Amino acid sequence: MMEEAWERLKKSYVYYKGKPVGTLAAMDPSAETLNYNQVFVRDFVPSGLACLMESPMDSDIVRNFLLKTLHLQGWEKRIDNFTLGEGVMPASFRVLFDTAQGKENLLADFGGSAIGRVAPVDSGFWWIILLRSYTKCTHDYSLAELPIVQKGMKLILNLCLSDGFDTFPTLLCADGCSMIDRRMGIYGYPIEIQALFYFALRCAQQLLKPERDGKEFIERIDKRIRALSFHIREYYWLDHSQLNIIYRYKTEEYSHTAVNKFNVIPESIPDWVFDFIPLRGGYFIGNVSPARMDFRWFLVGNCIAILSSLATPSQATAIMDLIDERWEDLIGEMPLKIAYPALEGHEWRIVTGFDPKNTRWSYHNGGSWPVLLWLLTAACIKTGRPQTAKRAIELVEKRLSKDGWPEYYDGKSGRYIGKQARKYQTWSISGYLIAKMMIENPANISMISFEEDKKIEKPRLSRSSSF
Ligand code: GLC
Repeated sequence: MMEEAWERLKKSYVYYKGKPVGTLAAMDPSAETLNYNQVFVRDFVPSGLACLMESPMDSDIVRNFLLKTLHLQGWEKRIDNFTLGEGVMPASFRVLFDTAQGKENLLADFGGSAIGRVAPVDSGFWWIILLRSYTKCTHDYSLAELPIVQKGMKLILNLCLSDGFDTFPTLLCADGCSMIDRRMGIYGYPIEIQALFYFALRCAQQLLKPERDGKEFIERIDKRIRALSFHIREYYWLDHSQLNIIYRYKTEEYSHTAVNKFNVIPESIPDWVFDFIPLRGGYFIGNVSPARMDFRWFLVGNCIAILSSLATPSQATAIMDLIDERWEDLIGEMPLKIAYPALEGHEWRIVTGFDPKNTRWSYHNGGSWPVLLWLLTAACIKTGRPQTAKRAIELVEKRLSKDGWPEYYDGKSGRYIGKQARKYQTWSISGYLIAKMMIENPANISMISFEEDKKIEKPRLSRSSSF
């Protein structure tokens, strides 16, 4: 299966002026291509990591990808009469051959062509994270030190560090801003973006040079890291004892002494949470904002929180405990649920706007995505639980190649190939490859993980047994 995966990954390479610059999202001859014939920034991350873990290492494609996407960042980005921020990175790009001019051109999408015109807030963060992986792995500091690369990083972070009306250190986002690129009720302060933001800040802290305005930038980053980690660790964390506290919340508290800071009404806690939360284990919930806690579980945000050490060591252990305790719900027959539980009936109609692609237990709405195996595997290794990852890998090996490497599976336990899933989806392939390479050589995870930041204080609250 590894051999087949390598072969398919190499076939997905996209070339620009003779050099590999990325990988296609999918190579499914039987389905309409839409934008799956493009190089997506987020999809390239597992492909890039596979090339960095390969022996001998193939770092050229990663370097070319980082430089080409940086070049695209420099474009003027117009949608109708509106211009996007300078730092915005594309969601995807493709190479077009201009027959009249007889040359290749790059064409980028910053959300202007994407279904629903969704903004790729995660692209810039993934770009910085991959730059750090490349640097850590190759020891080639010259790329990160290039003035254009330093500037690119600052432009990305400038979008997020500027002062405004915010009363929280988290980033306010529209729906569809990340891997879940359709309306799914993740608007607000979604955990996936907050965890990626934190991860990217820690990468930039290492990669930015203190020269000129760099020093001031690093200071702003340090401050934000502290505020962001406090906020997420305190207010997004849910376990049995915290749920009990929320359940007994008083409302309408005024002033800074309020316990129920966001005025969450306990009646808004959905019934399923009471059964889902085990006595041992916990997780970061999906979203926190005034009078709103989205209690849904999102895999990407929680795993990225473990890898970046946004989660404290005890929170990381508790997240893994939850995965063990709720294996049937979160892993089932095919790893891994992107979100849990699914939105159904009236809620699905209101929250997704009747989205026929995101029906219950399909696609982003509780579907199972093989690509997420690499994130789970990395989190398992980091928390010292390789056996859990091996169990998930075994499930993938039973079906993934036989089923043609689909993008996602449907159903409560992930038994069915997704209704509209593409086959030969590149990140399903590269996700499997890096999961295997991390299990074979756990040292590989150092390129995608951080140790705890000792300067940050731990939360004060005492929580359930596993916290
Ligand atoms: C889908 C996914 C998105 C991914 C893209 C390309 O739109 O929702 O996360 O980047 O396909 O694979």
